[in-house]
Amino acid sequence: MRVSESRALPVRAVRWLNFQRRLKIRQARRWIAFEDIARFEADRAPRAGGRFGEVFLAHEGQVAHKWDHYLPVYEQLLGRYAEGFVDENGGRRPLRFLEIGVSEGGSLEVWRKYFGPEAVIHGLDIDPKCAFVVPDSVARVHIGSQDDGELLRRVVREMGGVDVVLDDGSHVASHQRATFDVLWPLLAEGGVYICEDLHTAYWPGYEGGLHRPGQFISVAKALVDGMHRWYARMPDTQLHRSGQHEVRAVHFYDSVVAIEKVRRKPPTWTKSGTGTKEDRAKEAGHVG
Ligand SMILES: C[S@@+](CC[C@H](N)C(=O)[O-])C[C@H]1O[C@@H](n2cnc3c(N)ncnc32)[C@H](O)[C@@H]1O
Repeated sequence: MRVSESRALPVRAVRWLNFQRRLKIRQARRWIAFEDIARFEADRAPRAGGRFGEVFLAHEGQVAHKWDHYLPVYEQLLGRYAEGFVDENGGRRPLRFLEIGVSEGGSLEVWRKYFGPEAVIHGLDIDPKCAFVVPDSVARVHIGSQDDGELLRRVVREMGGVDVVLDDGSHVASHQRATFDVLWPLLAEGGVYICEDLHTAYWPGYEGGLHRPGQFISVAKALVDGMHRWYARMPDTQLHRSGQHEVRAVHFYDSVVAIEKVRRKPPTWTKSGTGTKEDRAKEAGHVG
């Protein structure tokens, strides 16, 4: 019920209570929307997700939540790292994987099974309870907010660098952007940055909205523009520069964006073969 102004409560208190009430309604609506879509997807989605899907569906430990259609996406993006990370010189070393958003710890257990005992796996979550969900042999869990740049830098230092980032944290646009701004420059060449649950990029409750600057789908689109900066004039923004010099590919899936990092040189052009259509036409007696 809406709190009305009365002599018993000062105006500011009434406003505060009404604000809290509106917030609760907004949160409840947000959750209902999510549940409806989740049921819709779960009924129809194919459950095959390659080896990742097998590991995920056979998992019996802590709870892990993933949309069904992510399973083949992970396999496609991360299957190449299952035997370790191949660096610029062709050497193989253990993968360094960071997941933002630990929750019950189940996904960290799944990643450990998927990437094997050698991988360096760290998690970050704002909830202090997450410090207890898995032992260090599964993953090292850090507590703090994903928009704390100093913390992120410390985590990556402790990891000895980072090859794969999976942002499954707050899903709030400004947090996703802050995390990307800090972690993207630290990501190893040949690595991939993944941000998931990006349906939230369209939800105002998560600072989202269609074409809204700053939400992660818009960030990724700006990187796509930047990839093409060799060929077209565009403003000199950080995203455009990154896209031009460091992005090999931006993959868009339903609710998942993955950005592959590679140091790019100006594009070159190669010709092979010598035959032309004029030669062929002349041989065939074609005139004109
Ligand atoms: C969707 S759950 C993660 C699920 C988990 N990755 C999985 O697949 O099972 C999101 C998590 O992000 C955490 N979180 C929320 N805000 C955060 C923030 N600002 N920084 C870091 N973690 C945050 C929540 O505490 C929650 O555990």
